Amino acid sequence: MDKIRIRGGKRLEGIIPVSGAKNAALPLMAASLLTDSKLTLSNIPYLADVITMANLLVQHGVALHMDEKSLDPSGFGRTLTLQAAKIENFTAPYELVRTMRASVLVLGPLLARFAQAKVSLPGGCAIGTRPIDLHLKALEQMGALIELADGYIHAFVKGRLQGADIAFDKVTVTGTENIMMAAVLAEGKTTIRNAAREPEVVDLAECLVKMGAHIEGIGSDTLTIVGVKSLRDASHRVIADRIEAGTYAAAAAITGGDIELSGIDLKALSNVIEKFAEAGVLIEASANGVRVSRKNGLHGVDIMTQPYPGFPTDMQAQMMGLMTIADGASMITETIFENRFMHVPELSRMGAKINVHGSSAVVRGVERLAGAEVMATDLRASVSLVIAALAAKGDTLINRVYHLDRGYERLEDKLAACGAEIERVKA
Ligand code: EPZ
Repeated sequence: MDKIRIRGGKRLEGIIPVSGAKNAALPLMAASLLTDSKLTLSNIPYLADVITMANLLVQHGVALHMDEKSLDPSGFGRTLTLQAAKIENFTAPYELVRTMRASVLVLGPLLARFAQAKVSLPGGCAIGTRPIDLHLKALEQMGALIELADGYIHAFVKGRLQGADIAFDKVTVTGTENIMMAAVLAEGKTTIRNAAREPEVVDLAECLVKMGAHIEGIGSDTLTIVGVKSLRDASHRVIADRIEAGTYAAAAAITGGDIELSGIDLKALSNVIEKFAEAGVLIEASANGVRVSRKNGLHGVDIMTQPYPGFPTDMQAQMMGLMTIADGASMITETIFENRFMHVPELSRMGAKINVHGSSAVVRGVERLAGAEVMATDLRASVSLVIAALAAKGDTLINRVYHLDRGYERLEDKLAACGAEIERVKA
C-alpha cells in the first residue's frame, strides 16, 4: 500500500485547480440508468470512487466511455459518456458495494426504470453504521416490495413506482438523491420533505431537469417531482468540489500560505467562509476563483457540523487539523456521524492536544506539531493528517493512503506545485 511522506514547514503559495465534486459525480453517473438516451458528464474527477462507480455501472450493462483526451484546461476533469441502452444485470454485488457505499444510488434508478433491483447492503464503515433504512422506507411508500436476505436488498415493483408524499425523519443526502431519481419516472407526483439541500443534490436535480425531469423546489427542503415516461440525451458539467476546496484552504492556512483555488467560486464555500474568518483565515474572490491567505495568527473556533447550509461534516476533520496549532481552544461537535473522530488519536501522535467527550472534541492549540508515522483510516481523517503534517516539524509518513485516493485527485501534485515537500512512496 502506498504511503505519503511530508516534510513540514513550507508556506504554500501558488494556484490549486479544484476538481469536479466527487459527491456530485457519483449520483450523476447513477442517473444514467434512468434512460436509454446518452448522458454526457464533463469535469468528472479521476478518483478511485469514480472508477468503482464506473465498474458498477458497466457490470449492469451501461456503455461507458471516458475520453482520456478530454482534459479541462486545468489538466483535471474528464468527460464521460454513459448510455444504459442494454441493461441485463440488476444486481449490485457485495464486492463492489462494500468498497463504496454510494453504490446504493443505483437502487432508485433500477427500480424506477426496470422495477427490480438486487443491491448488496453496504454494511458499516469507519465513521459509523450508516444505515439506509430511510431510503428503503421511502421506496416502500412508492410501492416497492423490499426484502432483506443474505446481505442483499431484494426489491421489486408490480408495474411502476407510484408517486408518494415522503417525509424524511433525518436529512439524508443520498437518500434524497435515491428517491428523487426514483420519482423522476414514477407514476404521478412525489413530494420529498426534509430533503437534503447540499449543492451536490442541487447539481443532480439540475441535470435530471436537463434530461427532461419535472422537479420543483430545487435547493429547498421540499422537492416536488412529477414522473415522466422517459428521458432524453443531456450534457452536464459537474460542479466544483467545495470539500476539496475547503481542504486546500485549511492546508494553505496552516502553513501561513497564500494560494488561489481556481475553478470554484466564493459562493460554493459560503458555509465555511465565516468559520475560517473567525479563525483568522481570509477567503475572498479572486480573478480565477478564490484566494486563501492569513495575515496574523490562527484563533481557536467552535464548530458544530450540520446538514447544509450548516458547517459540513466532511470538513470537520480538516478544521480539527487546522485548530491543532491555533491560539486558544476549539470545541468541535460532530452531529451527523457517530464515529467521525478517527483522526484524533493520529493527530495526538503528532503532539496535538485533543480531548474527546462523546460527540465533542476539545482541541487546545500547541506551538507546533512534530512529524510522526501515522495511519489513515477514512477519507477525511486521512486528509486532516496531511494538513497537520504540512506545518509539523520534521517528516510525517502517512500509511494506507488509498483512503485519500478515493476523494482527492493527485493531491501530492497539487500541493507540491505550491511548494509543499510531499512525495508518494510507492508500495
Ligand atoms: C453523503 O453520505 C456523502 N456521501 C458523505 O460524504 C457525507 O458525509 C454525508 O452525505 C453527509 O453530508 C456521498 O454523497 C456519496 P446521509 P450519506 O445519508 O448520504 C443517517 C465523504 O467524505 N441515515 O446524509 O451516506 C446517517 O447514519 C462522504 O465524501 C440514517 O439513519 O449520508 C447519518 O447519521 C462521507 N438512515 C445521517 O443520516 C438512512 O437511511 C446523514 O447521512 C440514511 C442516513
